[in-house]
Amino acid sequence: MTPSGNRVIFFDTTLRDGEQSPGATMTSAEKLEVARGLARMGVDVIEAGFPAASPDDLEAVRKIADEVGNSAEGNAAPIICGLARCSKNDIDKAWEAVKPAARPRIHTFLATSDIHMEYKLKMTREQVVERVREMVTYARSLCGDIEFSPEDAGRSEPEFLYKVLGVAIECGATTLNIPDTVGYTMPEEFGKLISGIIEQTPGIEKCVVSVHCHNDLGLATANTMAGLRAGARQAEVTINGIGERAGNTALEEVVMVLQTREPIFKLTHNIDTTQIVKMSKLISNYTGITVQPNKAIVGANAFAHEAGIHQDGMLKNQMTYEIMRPESVGATLTKLVLGKHSGKHALRTRLESLGYELDDQELLKMFDRFKMLADKKKMITDSDLEALVSDELYQPTELYSLDGLQVACGTMGMPTATVRLCDPDGGMHVQACVGTGPVDAAFKAISSIVGFSNSLQEFVVHAVTEGIDALGEVTVRLQGEGETQNVGLQPDQDQPRTFGGYGADTDIVVASAKAYLSALNKMLVASGKFGPPEKASTEAIVY
Ligand code: KIV
Ligand code: ZN
Repeated sequence: MTPSGNRVIFFDTTLRDGEQSPGATMTSAEKLEVARGLARMGVDVIEAGFPAASPDDLEAVRKIADEVGNSAEGNAAPIICGLARCSKNDIDKAWEAVKPAARPRIHTFLATSDIHMEYKLKMTREQVVERVREMVTYARSLCGDIEFSPEDAGRSEPEFLYKVLGVAIECGATTLNIPDTVGYTMPEEFGKLISGIIEQTPGIEKCVVSVHCHNDLGLATANTMAGLRAGARQAEVTINGIGERAGNTALEEVVMVLQTREPIFKLTHNIDTTQIVKMSKLISNYTGITVQPNKAIVGANAFAHEAGIHQDGMLKNQMTYEIMRPESVGATLTKLVLGKHSGKHALRTRLESLGYELDDQELLKMFDRFKMLADKKKMITDSDLEALVSDELYQPTELYSLDGLQVACGTMGMPTATVRLCDPDGGMHVQACVGTGPVDAAFKAISSIVGFSNSLQEFVVHAVTEGIDALGEVTVRLQGEGETQNVGLQPDQDQPRTFGGYGADTDIVVASAKAYLSALNKMLVASGKFGPPEKASTEAIVY
């Protein structure tokens, strides 16, 4: 029996493995908001980032450790974890970032598969064992809670794994995480790997065994469930399953499997499942990575019943075609909450019940937006309020802001947009451009003022509620031309940098311009042209 008994520890890595996926770059304010939401949801461990990646990453993790790692809203404050390669510099940076938390954790990792050791690390098995011994001991001298991961465990030789894990335990590791880094294993195989580790590793009963699966073959959730059945008690997951390549195991899938098939698993957890849909939306707004409509649990169609035969069955008994209730994941029908005559107090109360604690200045901003929307739209729902909060309060540093936009379009002339932007020093810039349509023309005008080469990778428009007066939400993903970043964990894995942006307005051209500008602002901050540049770690390290 592991130290956690029958309780599954939810370890969320949306802010680390999730944020590593192309385009998922989030601002510090967004990361903090995500961490608050995860804590509210009852996540046990928040992996807040990879502090050695850049000074900005370190600062964002430190802020989360300080603010979220010490707030106990009903639950105990979550453990705040920072990732570190097996190097002194990484471990020092992770410790510097997480130590303000009431319950800090350092997560260090080193690859153990032959292919990684030979080609990537260029280290022998003996050298790997020695590095683990040295670095886990060092990490434990700083922090009482140490997680160790043998990277690419899914393709590592089991006997060697037992040996490396045994050394990590001897040196003070408290959680042993088994990653299927490349999403290669099958559920039965992965389950056997976990039982083998539990049976064969000396001292394992003192530690929590964790599973961390990638979704390259679409088996991440199945493998995670197999790991839990075999005795693992920590699941590493991300919201919406975002992450490297095909992503990580989705939090919402694991928790709903545990809940819906409880008689099979007989395992408990601390997740408030009614927060699932809200968190899913928050992540897709912040990252610009939209959720496919048929995605399990959080897709727009996950609870839709279109076929007549299904609808007939549902009317007779919901259990005919529904294995979980939409309310259990927070996917209730949008409610009419406020109208034109509602006051500030009613708005604050409603926002608080949705989990948003605003200061007076934020409330004033929200109230102005709310009144403007109420002039155009009679019924203001929870979803509208959530979209306004994302659009108004959780935007990146506004280097350039949209001061005015006018478009002419239709069949009688060339689509033209005139844009007025306010620059970081308060200067006004006006530009008019023609394009293939009003959105294209607006993007061209914005781009020519900002003067930062980029290409549009993705553009998605979606209506927040039903009805012709609905707010339109737009998410975009931009790629900076010539800009690369090392989002991954190896120095030679530079990828083109992409940035997500979000905007909401009843006018979808305005929403599009806001989303485009929000992604461009992120891109400018990250490029270092404004504000502090994001520097990569300069430490010479072999992997
Ligand atoms: O997938 C992986 O191997 C990882 C490790 C850092 C745990 O993300
Ligand atoms: Zn991973």
